[in-house]
Amino acid sequence: MSNLFPAYSRRIFLVALLGLALIGVLVVAGVTYYVTPKYTRVGYQPQQPISFSHKWHVGELGLDCRYCHNHVGDSPHSNVPGTATCINCHGKDFGGIKPDSPELAPLRVAWDTGQPVPWIRIHKVPEYVYFNHAVHVKRGVSCVSCHGKVNEMEVVYHHEPLSMGWCLNCHRNPEKALRPADQVTNLNWSPNDSGSQDAFVKALIKDADIKPPKDCSACHR
Ligand code: HEC
Ligand code: HEC
Ligand code: HEC
Ligand code: HEC
Ligand code: HEC
Repeated sequence: MSNLFPAYSRRIFLVALLGLALIGVLVVAGVTYYVTPKYTRVGYQPQQPISFSHKWHVGELGLDCRYCHNHVGDSPHSNVPGTATCINCHGKDFGGIKPDSPELAPLRVAWDTGQPVPWIRIHKVPEYVYFNHAVHVKRGVSCVSCHGKVNEMEVVYHHEPLSMGWCLNCHRNPEKALRPADQVTNLNWSPNDSGSQDAFVKALIKDADIKPPKDCSACHR
């Protein structure tokens, strides 16, 4: 009885063993692929060519995000400001603020050569993902939901994972993230500032019919 299908069962055993090994490799690869971005990206804080402080310029001086990121409300892409925006205040010709500061040397080089300051980009979704800033900002999703309290950052760092699960998490329950559209750049805004958050959000969702997409083709075109 035990010798009835010896070769056959041995092959099954080998195939099963190979199959198990393959599944093991796939699981490890899968876990690495899905989990890695979350943990390696959050906290990413490159050294920038100029030690530009959001904490000072926004938190203390009170500049609005859109003074510098001026396309964030009307364009898919949020721009980093050009040299001229900084020169408005730090330019020598207009008796600007600390125009000779050694910290601003790369700014003067950029201004003289016409080359942009080589800021290092921090946030980026893969090419195959479609993301639009204006859609979110106009609907009342604040910068703080996706970038953290930049107004308190001396040096900007990656605060949120920007992973697919993270996008979908908000798309399934956008209520908590919504606020009046004129408060999106006020990162210290609290729901209590607009009366009852509950009533406000219910009215907003009902009136505006806010339904963030969950279908694959919305973000993968
Ligand atoms: C005075 C100009 C200025 C203002 C005002 C300003 N920013 Fe910035 N922002 C910059 C510059 C310059 C950089 C690139 C250097 C850096 O990362 O610090 C930057 C970078 C960023 C980045 C990272 C971009 C990347 O590479 O991923 C985020 C996010 C950001 N700003 C959000 C904000 C938010 C939110 C506000 C308002 C609360 C704001 N900024 C106000 C000038 C400004
Ligand atoms: C609305 C005016 C204004 C704009 C626009 C502005 N700054 Fe400033 N910045 C200031 C003021 C005010 C200070 C504080 C100067 C002081 O310490 O006396 C400052 C300080 C700095 C410092 C520290 C300088 C030092 O020696 O302590 C750096 C670096 C700097 N800014 C970079 C930038 C960059 C880069 C931009 C453009 C993205 C920019 N600033 C845009 C007003 C501005
Ligand atoms: C719903 C989430 C979300 C909101 C709200 C949001 N951002 Fe972003 N931001 C992102 C994502 C995702 C990226 C990367 C986009 C990409 O790769 O094209 C990004 C990138 C950026 C960049 C880098 C652009 C570059 O090319 O260097 C800046 C600057 C920025 N955001 C500023 C802002 C400001 C200012 C606000 C508020 C007015 C804001 N963001 C609101 C998700 C968001
Ligand atoms: C904090 C909440 C929040 C996060 C995080 C968020 N979204 Fe959204 N998203 C919204 C809301 C609100 C809308 C608007 C829905 C409406 O107008 O009905 C929206 C709409 C969209 C739309 C449809 C409008 C368009 O541009 O075609 C796309 C696509 C989208 N989001 C992609 C993304 C991607 C990709 C990410 C992650 C990188 C992301 N979102 C993260 C809240 C969020
Ligand atoms: C709200 C936006 C959004 C929707 C809806 C969405 N995705 Fe994604 N997807 C993303 C983002 C953002 C990434 C990039 C993740 C990263 O970089 O970590 C991604 C990555 C992926 C990847 C690459 C694997 C990975 O996680 O890195 C695959 C495959 C994928 N999505 C498939 C799908 C499928 C299938 C659907 C429909 C069931 C879907 N996506 C719906 C935003 C979305």
